[in-house]
Amino acid sequence: MFSTSALKVHNLSTHFYTRQGVVKAVDGVSFTVEAGHALGLVGESGCGKSVTALSISGLVKPPGRINSGEVWLNGRDLLKTPPRELRRLRGREIALVFQDPLASLNPVLSVGLQLVETVLSHEKVSAGLAKKMAVVQLHRMGLPDPDRLMRCYPLELSGGMCQRVLLTMALLLHPKVLILDEPTTALDTTVQAQILSELKRLQEELKMAVILVTHDMGVIAAMADSVAVMYAGSIVERAPVAELFDRPAHPYTRALLCSIPRFGQEALVPIKGQPPSLLNLPDECAFLPRCPEAFTACRGKRPPLTTVGPGHTAACHQLCLPAMVEVSKR
Ligand SMILES: Nc1ncnc2c1ncn2[C@@H]1O[C@H](COP(=O)(O)OP(=O)(O)OP(=O)(O)O)[C@@H](O)[C@H]1O
Ligand SMILES: [Mg+2]
Repeated sequence: MFSTSALKVHNLSTHFYTRQGVVKAVDGVSFTVEAGHALGLVGESGCGKSVTALSISGLVKPPGRINSGEVWLNGRDLLKTPPRELRRLRGREIALVFQDPLASLNPVLSVGLQLVETVLSHEKVSAGLAKKMAVVQLHRMGLPDPDRLMRCYPLELSGGMCQRVLLTMALLLHPKVLILDEPTTALDTTVQAQILSELKRLQEELKMAVILVTHDMGVIAAMADSVAVMYAGSIVERAPVAELFDRPAHPYTRALLCSIPRFGQEALVPIKGQPPSLLNLPDECAFLPRCPEAFTACRGKRPPLTTVGPGHTAACHQLCLPAMVEVSKR
């Protein structure tokens, strides 16, 4: 199977085998991200966004295990790639940035050394050139006085600066796929805007495919071309960004859009009820117990993803059975 998209995830399932039982953190997730495009991944806490990001990057640790799926990058299935080869690809082809920058930087090595080593571990260039590349990229991320910064240690920097150093590290090797898990949450709005515009510029210039995990719909609106909405380990809706905001097709997406801050909107409506336990997922729509629009036909089976418009799919029985909805409304 060969694909022209930069990244193609097919039927990915990652489960955690715990004493309490099997946690189905990611359960049959499929999506593609084209080169030069950004996919926003949204959903309530615990729905499986980070585990999806870790699975794609081959970083799932026991008791987690990828049970099934394919992750295609450049005609190669990453899930069938030997660990040593995968380590080589990570950084160069696929880079991942997490929210907690201090946990990802080595506190006893200077910023410069860490950046230079990142380049040298993947590229056959001189240390001098590696240093130059690092300084240029730090400057592009809006970091003042990059030469001085290269000599600093992570603990001497603010959280926002550390985060920009990590992004710099991820971008240094011009990866084909960049996965950002809540990358700007810890940053103040001005810095966030600067980083997002630099990311957008690089995404277009380098034709990177970006997966952006965030709770912030403002960030989605600024960055994403399309959005995937996750609920209880599955994607329940996928649409181009404007389409998702204007015509959300899944009741969960509608509830989510009302529940999280968006464009300075004040009155937020929380989603009633709790997400289901991923230990005992019912074999029917997982949103059913919380769905304000549920009807009898929602019981007993899972709704498949149905096409509702160009590039727009959603998994809701209402969309499969429009005739029944009409009947139930009468
Ligand atoms: N090591 C683990 N052992 C058991 N369960 C785990 C483990 N790591 C994650 N999970 C479970 O997998 C599910 C998905 O977690 P994940 O971290 O992907 O959520 P998330 O969507 O990223 O949430 P958030 O928005 O809070 O970051 C959660 O129910 C979580 O409890
Ligand atoms: Mg997460």
